[in-house]
Amino acid sequence: MGFFSQLFGSKQKKESLTDLSILGCDMHSHFIPAIDDGSKSVEETMSMLQSLSDLGIQKFITTPHIMGDFYQNSAETINPGLEKIREEIKKEGKPWEIRAAAEYYMDHEFLSKLDSGPLLTVHKNKVLIEFSYINRPNNMKDMLFALKINGYQPIVAHPERYPYLYTSMKEYEDLLDFEVDFQLNLGSISGMYSQGAQKIALELMKRGWISYVGTDMHNMKNYPFYEALLNIPEFVALIESGKLKNAELFKD
Ligand SMILES: [Fe+2]
Repeated sequence: MGFFSQLFGSKQKKESLTDLSILGCDMHSHFIPAIDDGSKSVEETMSMLQSLSDLGIQKFITTPHIMGDFYQNSAETINPGLEKIREEIKKEGKPWEIRAAAEYYMDHEFLSKLDSGPLLTVHKNKVLIEFSYINRPNNMKDMLFALKINGYQPIVAHPERYPYLYTSMKEYEDLLDFEVDFQLNLGSISGMYSQGAQKIALELMKRGWISYVGTDMHNMKNYPFYEALLNIPEFVALIESGKLKNAELFKD
């Protein structure tokens, strides 16, 4: 019995999808070459795009990290890389559309970024944000409040990946009280990260608290975990719930 069969047992064959085209777009990824911990080259990006295209995804919003220390990206580092990818897509005659935004890390420098100009949004006022995986930020809610009063709608990236929130689902309810949206990483469902992340992912899905999903793809090693989704009943149920809003991000 394979790894995924062992995880999901006999339920595996009951429901399935033929591909992921119903999502409309992938709205979280690291495809801009050599500016963060994602793709290292245009060639690697093209392989990743092809792999997701094989799963039926043709539209992408790529979201490089913007951090105060490790990855000090901005439109100046992101846009030239985006243009290189677009040129390659055109050269190879692929039907893919790709846009760029960012994944903002909520650190000590974020509030000054917020003051100094418009953020790179995934769509209109929607901003993808992430928190530390290790320590609960003591100003988590201040950050959300600051985004809100500046007119932004925060989308919290991979809420299932912050272990300090695992103690109670009330932690998630408290965040949702700020009227944020949650974006689940697809790989969390199929066990790409920890068992804790997988368990919380399934619980958030069951409760109907997920508005967006994304691959958060960094390299080709991630790919098998997206392919595995097609046979996971809980994922099929999420798709069929009609609650996912990914397609809206590419409407105009
Ligand atoms: Fe990411």
